[in-house]
Amino acid sequence: MKYAVIGHPIQHSLSPVMHNANFKALDFEATYEALDIPPKHFHLIKEIMTEKEIDGFNITIPHKERIIPYLDEIDTHAQTIGAINTVKIVNGKWIGYNTDGIGYVKGLNRVYPNLKDACILLLGAGGASKGLAAALNQVVEQQLTVANRTMSRFDSWDLSVNTMSLKEAETHLNTFDVVINTTPAGMSDNQDVVISLDQLAPNTLVSDIVYVPAKTPILKLAEAKGNPIYNGLDMFVNQGAESFKIWTGQTADINVMKETVLEHLKRRD
Ligand code: ATR
Repeated sequence: MKYAVIGHPIQHSLSPVMHNANFKALDFEATYEALDIPPKHFHLIKEIMTEKEIDGFNITIPHKERIIPYLDEIDTHAQTIGAINTVKIVNGKWIGYNTDGIGYVKGLNRVYPNLKDACILLLGAGGASKGLAAALNQVVEQQLTVANRTMSRFDSWDLSVNTMSLKEAETHLNTFDVVINTTPAGMSDNQDVVISLDQLAPNTLVSDIVYVPAKTPILKLAEAKGNPIYNGLDMFVNQGAESFKIWTGQTADINVMKETVLEHLKRRD
């Protein structure tokens, strides 16, 4: 079997080493490669995949929405989100899924077992936030709250959530058990913290969907205050494991996948 991840840029993706380690651990005969597809070549996607005889692929930035017109079917969860990160090809038919949100929630549930009763605040209202909200809504009983800089972003949301500005979120911060940053504030060269953590309650778990760096500025700040923190590494590993399950019906070796990713991240330091 042949699998791939498409994106642009894609050379730093750890998906190939992670999936290939899983194939090896399970003695599953397959390959997984990274394909750099710039937006201007995206219209050739069907030809590229057919020529390479790909059975399934992942989609990363910036193609998660661009892939939609090429699909024959979209799973209902992915439809709610409006973004695709996994495609399964069956007899030439392309079926789209989104495993990002479920990947994150599975990991979060392990570090925060009582997720059902948690009061959760999501920071940011882009595609990533929508994916998490759709998956969290299936597990959490309390109404989710989503805070964003630009309120008009919520016009494209049809999920049932409370909405507020980032300023309001700062003021009400001590009412939340889990705070999840989905904005790129704090990634690589951007050192901003998206909201002030002055009002953070002592035991609130602070999370970020980013895993490089392992501790984004918001996680460093929360840790310095003595709060528990949780980054996006499990989300990355679990979304891959969920994709593998969609493609093959088999359960992935999550431990091998995570160890492999950690090992490669260490080598980059
Ligand atoms: P993704 O698919 O990764 O979610 P996106 O759809 O571009 O990316 O959404 C990015 C989110 O991060 C948005 O909620 C954006 O806020 P706006 O709607 O106001 O643009 C938010 N965001 C990006 N940079 C930010 C910053 N420096 N401070 C606060 N929010 C930021």
